[in-house]
Amino acid sequence: MLSTKFTELTGCRVPIQMAAIGGLAKPSLAAAVSNAGGLGMLQLSGFNPAQATSALDETRKRTRGVFGANFIVTEAWYPDLEELREVVETVSKHAKVVEFFYRQPDSSIIDLVHKNGALASWQVGSNDEAVAAAKAGCDLIVAQGIEAGGHVRGKIGLLSLLDQVLDSVDVPVLAAGGIGSGRAMAAALAAGASGVRVGTCFIVAEESEAHPEYQKALIYAEPEDTVVTEAFSENWPNAPHRVLRSSVEAAQAFKGEIVGQRRLSAGGEMAPAKRFESFVMTRDTTGVLEAMPHWAGESVASVKKIQSAAAIVDELVSEAERLLHSWK
Ligand SMILES: Cc1cc2nc3c(=O)[nH]c(=O)nc-3n(C[C@H](O)[C@H](O)[C@H](O)COP(=O)(O)O)c2cc1C
Repeated sequence: MLSTKFTELTGCRVPIQMAAIGGLAKPSLAAAVSNAGGLGMLQLSGFNPAQATSALDETRKRTRGVFGANFIVTEAWYPDLEELREVVETVSKHAKVVEFFYRQPDSSIIDLVHKNGALASWQVGSNDEAVAAAKAGCDLIVAQGIEAGGHVRGKIGLLSLLDQVLDSVDVPVLAAGGIGSGRAMAAALAAGASGVRVGTCFIVAEESEAHPEYQKALIYAEPEDTVVTEAFSENWPNAPHRVLRSSVEAAQAFKGEIVGQRRLSAGGEMAPAKRFESFVMTRDTTGVLEAMPHWAGESVASVKKIQSAAAIVDELVSEAERLLHSWK
């Protein structure tokens, strides 16, 4: 078994964290990853305490494993942190890990997580940000390389970033960005990461609620088909992201303001999907799907079929274990 500082700290059986892949990071997928021994994640940005409690309860009903919750704390969504504090207070009582992405790491939020009994984590894209996260009191840090799918804080390749971050902080560091194979996982662990964070690959898990057309596009895509852009910035400006290039081109070619209808992840109701809006296509999304964001990391190379989250975790772990042993 691959035992690391991350597995010891969290109680997970394997050193894999599911990335909080936006509106797909729901109880069904999170619990499936937790049941497979990894750290399942819920995305709770914009949720109020009652909505968050309901998602956490539903997850707990489905798993006895370890799971966490993620908040995107960009100023665009949380201009001040008061609204966030209330929900973080509740969530920290029920999730093992409470994690944040975007914005300078904030020690008052970390203290709140600790006071209520959870571990605190921050996904960062630079060494300076990692040092700030450690100083703010985080128990875990996720280093995100530019290979990552979705919003990308990283500006350099994952291994270069790990090189800097692992020399700068003492807390366990997870590697994020472009990890979809046991080979990539083994490389990150061999470099000194305590675990890996995997996003794109879980979009095609059987338990994911991603739209089948989105899943199909990922299955056919190669890393060269992805691009870092700021195209889908309508509701979240100044935030680079990696998507399939074809979706940027289709959105640019689309005439009109509304590309379709999509489900809001916090409230659950359907709403118009604006052209260039940032959201994740779930099964019930309708409209001109090809012009909606197709988030994808360079790890899309490993996305070949729909399979269970457990099979994705098993493949990564068994191949990484085999490679790490073969190098000894
Ligand atoms: C569809 C999608 C949605 C994402 N949403 C979030 C999010 O809500 N919060 C977050 O911290 N990171 C989010 N990310 C970024 C991931 O945390 C992670 O850095 C990335 O998935 C790692 O690269 P990979 O996709 O190649 O595995 C998202 C990524 C994807 C692909």
